[in-house]
Amino acid sequence: MDFKNRDIISINDFLKEELLHILKVVKQIEQKSKSSLLRGKILATLFFEPSTRTRLSFISAMEQLSGTVIGFSTANVTSIQKGESLWDTIKMTEQYADIIVIRHPLEGSARLAAEAASVPVINGGDGSNQHPTQTILDLYTIQKTKDKLEGLHIGFVGDLKYGRTVHSLVIALSHFNPTFYFIAPDDLQIPESYTDELFQKKVRYYKTADLTRFSKELDILYVTRIQKERFPDPLEYEKFKGIYRIDEAFLQHVKKELKIMHPLPRVDEIDKNIDNTEHAAYFEQAANGIPVRKTLLALVLGKVK
Ligand code: CP
Repeated sequence: MDFKNRDIISINDFLKEELLHILKVVKQIEQKSKSSLLRGKILATLFFEPSTRTRLSFISAMEQLSGTVIGFSTANVTSIQKGESLWDTIKMTEQYADIIVIRHPLEGSARLAAEAASVPVINGGDGSNQHPTQTILDLYTIQKTKDKLEGLHIGFVGDLKYGRTVHSLVIALSHFNPTFYFIAPDDLQIPESYTDELFQKKVRYYKTADLTRFSKELDILYVTRIQKERFPDPLEYEKFKGIYRIDEAFLQHVKKELKIMHPLPRVDEIDKNIDNTEHAAYFEQAANGIPVRKTLLALVLGKVK
Protein backbone atom coordinates (compact mmCIF):
# COMPACT_ATOMS: atom_id res chain seq x y z
CA MET A 1 0.00 0.00 0.00
CA ASP A 2 1.48 3.34 -1.01
CA PHE A 3 0.68 6.51 0.96
CA LYS A 4 3.44 8.64 -0.60
CA ASN A 5 2.38 12.28 -1.09
CA ARG A 6 -1.09 11.58 0.27
CA ASP A 7 -2.87 14.26 2.31
CA ILE A 8 -4.40 13.22 5.64
CA ILE A 9 -7.42 15.47 5.90
CA SER A 10 -10.43 13.38 6.89
CA ILE A 11 -10.81 9.87 8.22
CA ASN A 12 -13.58 9.43 5.61
CA ASP A 13 -10.82 9.35 2.98
CA PHE A 14 -9.45 6.06 4.37
CA LEU A 15 -10.70 2.55 3.65
CA LYS A 16 -10.83 -0.03 6.44
CA GLU A 17 -7.92 -1.92 4.84
CA GLU A 18 -5.86 1.27 4.78
CA LEU A 19 -6.52 1.96 8.46
CA LEU A 20 -5.53 -1.60 9.35
CA HIS A 21 -2.38 -1.29 7.26
CA ILE A 22 -1.40 1.96 9.02
CA LEU A 23 -1.93 0.29 12.43
CA LYS A 24 0.31 -2.59 11.34
CA VAL A 25 3.09 -0.16 10.36
CA VAL A 26 2.69 1.74 13.66
CA LYS A 27 3.41 -1.49 15.52
CA GLN A 28 6.59 -2.02 13.49
CA ILE A 29 7.73 1.59 13.96
CA GLU A 30 7.01 1.45 17.70
CA GLN A 31 9.44 -1.43 18.08
CA LYS A 32 12.31 0.69 16.74
CA SER A 33 13.62 3.63 18.75
CA LYS A 34 15.42 6.43 16.91
CA SER A 35 16.27 6.19 13.23
CA SER A 36 17.46 8.41 10.41
CA LEU A 37 14.44 7.62 8.23
CA LEU A 38 13.52 11.29 7.68
CA ARG A 39 16.99 12.85 7.61
CA GLY A 40 16.98 15.90 5.33
CA LYS A 41 13.18 16.28 5.48
CA ILE A 42 11.49 19.38 6.92
CA LEU A 43 8.10 19.46 8.64
CA ALA A 44 6.17 22.75 8.94
CA THR A 45 3.77 22.90 11.90
CA LEU A 46 1.20 25.67 11.31
CA PHE A 47 -0.90 25.93 14.45
CA PHE A 48 -3.56 28.64 14.40
CA GLU A 49 -5.12 27.18 17.58
CA PRO A 50 -3.62 26.05 20.89
CA SER A 51 -2.20 22.54 21.16
CA THR A 52 0.05 20.58 23.48
CA ARG A 53 -0.10 16.95 22.34
CA THR A 54 -0.59 17.24 18.60
CA ARG A 55 2.07 19.87 17.99
CA LEU A 56 4.67 18.54 20.41
CA SER A 57 4.23 14.91 19.41
CA PHE A 58 4.59 15.79 15.71
CA ILE A 59 7.78 17.72 16.53
CA SER A 60 9.11 14.89 18.67
CA ALA A 61 8.18 12.26 16.06
CA MET A 62 9.94 14.21 13.30
CA GLU A 63 13.06 14.77 15.40
CA GLN A 64 13.20 11.13 16.53
CA LEU A 65 13.35 10.22 12.83
CA SER A 66 16.18 12.79 12.31
CA GLY A 67 14.02 15.29 10.42
CA THR A 68 13.79 18.99 11.24
CA VAL A 69 10.84 21.21 12.10
CA ILE A 70 9.84 24.80 11.38
CA GLY A 71 6.55 26.51 12.20
CA PHE A 72 4.51 28.54 14.63
CA SER A 73 2.11 27.90 17.48
CA THR A 74 0.02 31.03 17.15
CA ALA A 75 -1.02 33.09 14.13
CA ASN A 76 -0.14 36.31 16.04
CA VAL A 77 3.50 36.00 15.02
CA THR A 78 2.80 35.47 11.31
CA SER A 79 1.97 37.71 8.37
CA ILE A 80 -1.67 36.63 8.70
CA GLN A 81 -1.70 39.57 11.14
CA LYS A 82 -0.88 41.83 8.16
CA GLY A 83 -3.74 40.42 6.13
CA GLU A 84 -2.08 37.50 4.32
CA SER A 85 -4.56 34.78 3.38
CA LEU A 86 -4.36 31.13 4.46
CA TRP A 87 -3.92 30.19 0.80
CA ASP A 88 -0.84 32.44 0.40
CA THR A 89 0.55 31.28 3.76
CA ILE A 90 0.43 27.70 2.48
CA LYS A 91 1.92 28.68 -0.91
CA MET A 92 4.86 30.16 1.01
CA THR A 93 5.26 27.31 3.45
CA GLU A 94 5.50 24.72 0.69
CA GLN A 95 8.67 26.50 -0.47
CA TYR A 96 10.27 25.84 2.93
CA ALA A 97 9.05 22.37 3.94
CA ASP A 98 8.45 18.87 2.59
CA ILE A 99 5.26 18.32 4.58
CA ILE A 100 2.78 20.52 6.48
CA VAL A 101 0.69 19.89 9.59
CA ILE A 102 -2.04 22.46 10.09
CA ARG A 103 -4.47 23.13 12.94
CA HIS A 104 -7.03 25.83 12.30
CA PRO A 105 -10.38 26.86 13.86
CA LEU A 106 -12.29 26.80 10.57
CA GLU A 107 -13.89 23.58 9.32
CA GLY A 108 -12.53 22.80 5.87
CA SER A 109 -9.32 24.79 6.35
CA ALA A 110 -7.10 21.70 6.12
CA ARG A 111 -8.78 20.69 2.85
CA LEU A 112 -8.19 24.21 1.52
CA ALA A 113 -4.54 24.00 2.59
CA ALA A 114 -4.19 20.68 0.77
CA GLU A 115 -5.60 22.27 -2.38
CA ALA A 116 -3.09 25.11 -2.13
CA ALA A 117 -0.08 22.93 -1.35
CA SER A 118 1.99 20.78 -3.67
CA VAL A 119 3.49 19.04 -0.62
CA PRO A 120 1.41 16.70 1.56
CA VAL A 121 -0.82 18.28 4.22
CA ILE A 122 -1.89 16.64 7.49
CA ASN A 123 -4.94 17.93 9.33
CA GLY A 124 -4.09 18.50 13.00
CA GLY A 125 -7.71 19.50 13.71
CA ASP A 126 -10.06 21.79 11.77
CA GLY A 127 -12.68 23.40 13.98
CA SER A 128 -15.34 20.92 15.13
CA ASN A 129 -14.88 18.84 12.01
CA GLN A 130 -12.06 16.26 12.05
CA HIS A 131 -8.85 15.25 13.82
CA PRO A 132 -7.72 12.22 11.80
CA THR A 133 -4.29 11.65 13.38
CA GLN A 134 -5.93 11.61 16.80
CA THR A 135 -8.32 8.99 15.45
CA ILE A 136 -5.51 6.75 14.28
CA LEU A 137 -3.85 6.95 17.69
CA ASP A 138 -7.24 6.27 19.30
CA LEU A 139 -7.68 3.17 17.11
CA TYR A 140 -4.16 2.06 17.95
CA THR A 141 -4.86 2.50 21.67
CA ILE A 142 -8.10 0.52 21.46
CA GLN A 143 -6.39 -2.26 19.52
CA LYS A 144 -3.54 -2.40 22.06
CA THR A 145 -5.70 -2.32 25.17
CA LYS A 146 -8.50 -4.60 23.90
CA ASP A 147 -6.48 -6.79 21.53
CA LYS A 148 -9.13 -6.22 18.86
CA LEU A 149 -11.20 -3.55 17.14
CA GLU A 150 -14.17 -5.65 16.08
CA GLY A 151 -17.46 -5.86 17.96
CA LEU A 152 -16.72 -3.48 20.84
CA HIS A 153 -19.27 -1.54 22.90
CA ILE A 154 -18.06 2.04 22.98
CA GLY A 155 -19.51 4.97 24.92
CA PHE A 156 -18.80 8.60 24.08
CA VAL A 157 -19.56 11.12 26.81
CA GLY A 158 -19.40 14.90 27.01
CA ASP A 159 -19.49 17.38 24.17
CA LEU A 160 -20.39 15.21 21.20
CA LYS A 161 -21.60 18.18 19.17
CA TYR A 162 -18.35 20.13 18.96
CA GLY A 163 -15.82 17.37 19.77
CA ARG A 164 -13.94 16.70 16.54
CA THR A 165 -12.12 13.69 17.96
CA VAL A 166 -15.48 11.99 18.50
CA HIS A 167 -16.61 12.79 14.96
CA SER A 168 -13.51 11.26 13.37
CA LEU A 169 -13.46 8.22 15.68
CA VAL A 170 -17.13 7.34 15.16
CA ILE A 171 -16.55 7.17 11.40
CA ALA A 172 -13.38 5.09 11.76
CA LEU A 173 -14.89 2.63 14.24
CA SER A 174 -18.00 2.19 12.12
CA HIS A 175 -15.90 -0.19 9.98
CA PHE A 176 -15.54 -2.58 12.92
CA ASN A 177 -19.09 -3.67 13.82
CA PRO A 178 -19.36 -1.57 16.99
CA THR A 179 -22.26 -0.68 19.26
CA PHE A 180 -22.16 3.01 20.18
CA TYR A 181 -23.62 4.77 23.22
CA PHE A 182 -23.76 8.56 22.84
CA ILE A 183 -24.03 10.10 26.32
CA ALA A 184 -24.76 13.83 26.25
CA PRO A 185 -27.54 16.33 26.91
CA ASP A 186 -29.72 16.92 23.83
CA ASP A 187 -27.99 20.22 23.04
CA LEU A 188 -24.55 18.55 22.90
CA GLN A 189 -25.56 15.30 21.23
CA ILE A 190 -23.78 13.86 18.22
CA PRO A 191 -24.88 15.73 15.05
CA GLU A 192 -27.51 14.02 12.92
CA SER A 193 -25.18 13.85 9.94
CA TYR A 194 -23.20 11.22 11.91
CA THR A 195 -26.19 9.21 13.12
CA ASP A 196 -27.62 9.30 9.58
CA GLU A 197 -24.39 7.76 8.33
CA LEU A 198 -24.47 5.13 11.09
CA PHE A 199 -28.07 4.30 10.18
CA GLN A 200 -27.06 3.84 6.53
CA LYS A 201 -24.21 1.56 7.60
CA LYS A 202 -26.52 -0.41 9.94
CA VAL A 203 -24.38 0.43 12.97
CA ARG A 204 -26.21 0.04 16.31
CA TYR A 205 -26.27 3.15 18.47
CA TYR A 206 -28.11 4.52 21.51
CA LYS A 207 -28.45 8.09 22.74
CA THR A 208 -28.91 9.05 26.38
CA ALA A 209 -28.09 11.88 28.78
CA ASP A 210 -27.66 9.40 31.65
CA LEU A 211 -24.04 8.43 32.32
CA THR A 212 -24.84 5.16 34.10
CA ARG A 213 -27.73 3.92 31.94
CA PHE A 214 -25.54 1.75 29.71
CA SER A 215 -22.27 1.90 31.66
CA LYS A 216 -22.18 -1.84 32.47
CA GLU A 217 -22.25 -2.61 28.73
CA LEU A 218 -19.13 -0.65 27.87
CA ASP A 219 -15.71 -1.95 26.81
CA ILE A 220 -14.45 1.60 26.18
CA LEU A 221 -15.66 4.95 27.53
CA TYR A 222 -14.33 7.85 25.46
CA VAL A 223 -14.61 10.98 27.59
CA THR A 224 -14.43 14.49 26.14
CA ARG A 225 -14.32 17.94 27.68
CA ILE A 226 -17.02 20.51 26.99
CA GLN A 227 -15.43 22.50 24.15
CA LYS A 228 -15.65 26.00 25.64
CA GLU A 229 -13.98 27.70 22.68
CA ARG A 230 -16.62 26.43 20.20
CA PHE A 231 -19.71 27.85 21.98
CA PRO A 232 -21.08 30.94 20.20
CA ASP A 233 -22.60 32.04 23.54
CA PRO A 234 -20.44 31.78 26.71
CA LEU A 235 -23.62 31.48 28.83
CA GLU A 236 -24.43 28.24 26.99
CA TYR A 237 -21.04 26.87 28.04
CA GLU A 238 -21.75 27.79 31.67
CA LYS A 239 -24.93 25.69 31.44
CA PHE A 240 -23.03 22.53 30.52
CA LYS A 241 -19.61 22.78 32.18
CA GLY A 242 -19.01 20.07 34.76
CA ILE A 243 -22.08 18.14 33.66
CA TYR A 244 -20.36 14.73 33.69
CA ARG A 245 -17.68 13.56 36.08
CA ILE A 246 -15.90 10.21 35.97
CA ASP A 247 -14.94 9.44 39.56
CA GLU A 248 -14.56 6.48 41.90
CA ALA A 249 -18.32 6.37 42.54
CA PHE A 250 -18.91 5.93 38.80
CA LEU A 251 -16.54 2.94 38.73
CA GLN A 252 -19.14 1.02 40.78
CA HIS A 253 -21.25 0.98 37.61
CA VAL A 254 -18.74 -0.39 35.09
CA LYS A 255 -17.16 -3.66 33.99
CA LYS A 256 -13.78 -4.57 35.49
CA GLU A 257 -12.27 -4.49 31.99
CA LEU A 258 -13.60 -1.04 31.03
CA LYS A 259 -10.92 1.23 29.57
CA ILE A 260 -11.40 4.98 29.88
CA MET A 261 -9.98 7.10 27.09
CA HIS A 262 -9.81 10.88 26.65
CA PRO A 263 -8.09 12.81 23.83
CA LEU A 264 -7.03 15.37 26.48
CA PRO A 265 -6.77 18.08 27.64
CA ARG A 266 -9.15 17.30 30.50
CA VAL A 267 -10.73 20.04 32.56
CA ASP A 268 -12.71 18.41 35.39
CA GLU A 269 -14.47 15.52 33.68
CA ILE A 270 -12.12 12.78 34.96
CA ASP A 271 -11.16 12.81 38.63
CA LYS A 272 -7.40 12.47 39.24
CA ASN A 273 -8.13 9.44 41.46
CA ILE A 274 -8.95 7.51 38.28
CA ASP A 275 -5.44 8.04 36.87
CA ASN A 276 -3.84 5.16 38.77
CA THR A 277 -6.63 2.66 38.24
CA GLU A 278 -6.59 -0.17 35.69
CA HIS A 279 -9.33 1.69 33.82
CA ALA A 280 -7.25 4.73 32.84
CA ALA A 281 -5.88 4.52 29.30
CA TYR A 282 -5.65 8.23 28.49
CA PHE A 283 -1.98 8.85 29.20
CA GLU A 284 -0.97 5.74 27.27
CA GLN A 285 -3.30 7.02 24.52
CA ALA A 286 -1.44 10.35 24.37
CA ALA A 287 1.91 8.51 24.35
CA ASN A 288 0.75 6.52 21.34
CA GLY A 289 0.77 9.83 19.45
CA ILE A 290 4.51 9.41 18.93
CA PRO A 291 4.62 6.08 17.05
CA VAL A 292 1.43 6.96 15.17
CA ARG A 293 2.73 10.34 13.99
CA LYS A 294 6.14 8.90 13.16
CA THR A 295 4.36 6.35 11.00
CA LEU A 296 2.16 8.90 9.25
CA LEU A 297 5.13 11.17 8.49
CA ALA A 298 7.18 8.25 7.16
CA LEU A 299 4.30 6.88 5.06
CA VAL A 300 3.38 10.20 3.49
CA LEU A 301 7.03 11.07 2.81
CA GLY A 302 7.40 7.72 1.07
CA LYS A 303 9.98 6.27 3.49
CA VAL A 304 7.89 3.25 4.49
CA LYS A 305 5.06 1.43 2.77
N1 CP B 1 -5.72 15.67 21.75
C1 CP B 1 -5.29 16.85 21.26
O1 CP B 1 -5.54 17.21 20.11
O2 CP B 1 -4.58 17.59 22.17
P1 CP B 1 -3.97 19.03 21.88
O3 CP B 1 -5.13 19.96 21.65
O4 CP B 1 -3.18 19.37 23.09
O5 CP B 1 -3.14 18.92 20.64
